[in-house]
Amino acid sequence: MDSFVIEGGTTLRGEVQVGGSKNAVLPIMAATLLTRETCVIRRVPDLSDVRFMCSILESLGATVAFADGTLTIRAENISGTGNYDLIRKMRGSICILGPLMGRLLRASVSLPGGCVIGTRPIDLHLKGLEALGARMRIEGGYVHAETPGLHGGVIFLGGRSGPTVLGTANVVMASVLAEGVTVIESAACEPEVVDLCHFLNGMGARIHGAGSPTITVTGVAALGGVDHEVIADRIEAGTFAVAAAASGGRVTLKGARAEHLGAVLDKLRESGAAIERHAGGLTVTAGQAVRPLEITTMPYSGFPTDMQAQFMAMLCLAPGTSIVTERIFESRFMHAAELMRLGADIGIEGPSAIIRGGRPLSGAEVMASDLRASAALVIAGIAAQGRTQVHRVYHLDRGYERMEVKLAALGARIERTRGE
Ligand code: EPZ
Repeated sequence: MDSFVIEGGTTLRGEVQVGGSKNAVLPIMAATLLTRETCVIRRVPDLSDVRFMCSILESLGATVAFADGTLTIRAENISGTGNYDLIRKMRGSICILGPLMGRLLRASVSLPGGCVIGTRPIDLHLKGLEALGARMRIEGGYVHAETPGLHGGVIFLGGRSGPTVLGTANVVMASVLAEGVTVIESAACEPEVVDLCHFLNGMGARIHGAGSPTITVTGVAALGGVDHEVIADRIEAGTFAVAAAASGGRVTLKGARAEHLGAVLDKLRESGAAIERHAGGLTVTAGQAVRPLEITTMPYSGFPTDMQAQFMAMLCLAPGTSIVTERIFESRFMHAAELMRLGADIGIEGPSAIIRGGRPLSGAEVMASDLRASAALVIAGIAAQGRTQVHRVYHLDRGYERMEVKLAALGARIERTRGE
């Protein structure tokens, strides 16, 4: 397993190209199952999660080619049973359930299981598909779904933590070929859901209201191929923005969509950074010092849970007390213990982390645990004095393409060491 070795104390300067969105491209790849025709998807990041989804689609019978950031997928003849080993390893693959139901009226998909940030239930996915006429059965670690035909309906998809992103994606993808009109209330508003709906409408679907809490889908008889460019990854952009602010530097994020980062940029300004928006992206300039913050994660367009760990790393440097409250997932503070190995002073009180910042961080060996927690450790390692070794960076490779290469180009002293 690979590690990153970081010599801290550097300031990040320069510009970095933001890649395509992981969380947009995964459901978009699943949506190609809804047509026999060829789909072309551009600005696809080369990530292990993307490679996994390619393998899942191929295991279902699709032909997949991936070169130079472009995916060409044709699902001419497919089966309805997803490969347990592949699906269990990547939670995001649950989003093949909706398109398989839409295309074949039957599907058997392994339950995704939990991960370090929470139990990751799919009750809302199943509620939505049942409302469209699917009959669901949980057996042997699989969800087995079938229906004589899918029909429209009115579905309230909100859960105890608010909307569900992939649950909304699954229900939209099951409804585009259903008989009649589907109205999804309390739908997720994330830009990744909007990008999926743009992709589906490009295939001939009739979806309105994407990006709002109410999405209306009018079923059509068939969908065709499409050529689509994925939106920029707002979480990759946000991660590099925080790294710039935490290191005292100035970084231009080429291709970043500032309109997808409202809450993140607002908190960066409040912490003392300056933000310049321009046609090609945005530039983040660190302030004299990082100021403490109070952050609560919320559904979009509130502060994104996927940026919580990265901000916690930066707030370890802010003299004073910061409070970070996680309202989306039940256990997304795995990074706190590892940050404390770097000298941070963090206390966990239920859903909140209390960060008493301002003491300098010093390098240490730390263990990555989840995609965004790993990013937090890299940010902290760059800001810390001395050497930090981040183990198990395969977690990072799931969601950040060549992160160490991009950071080194900005002046970080970071290199990947190949593990056994
Ligand atoms: C997506 O996960 C993202 N993943 C996550 O990003 C992101 O953190 C999350 O949305 C929230 O924004 C992808 O898009 C691949 P949810 P998803 O369903 O859709 C509860 C990253 O780091 N819930 O919106 O699986 C759930 O437990 C990843 O890139 C139910 O109760 O998340 C959670 O508390 C991590 N029942 C809340 O809703 C359900 O049926 C939000 O989950 C489904 C979800």
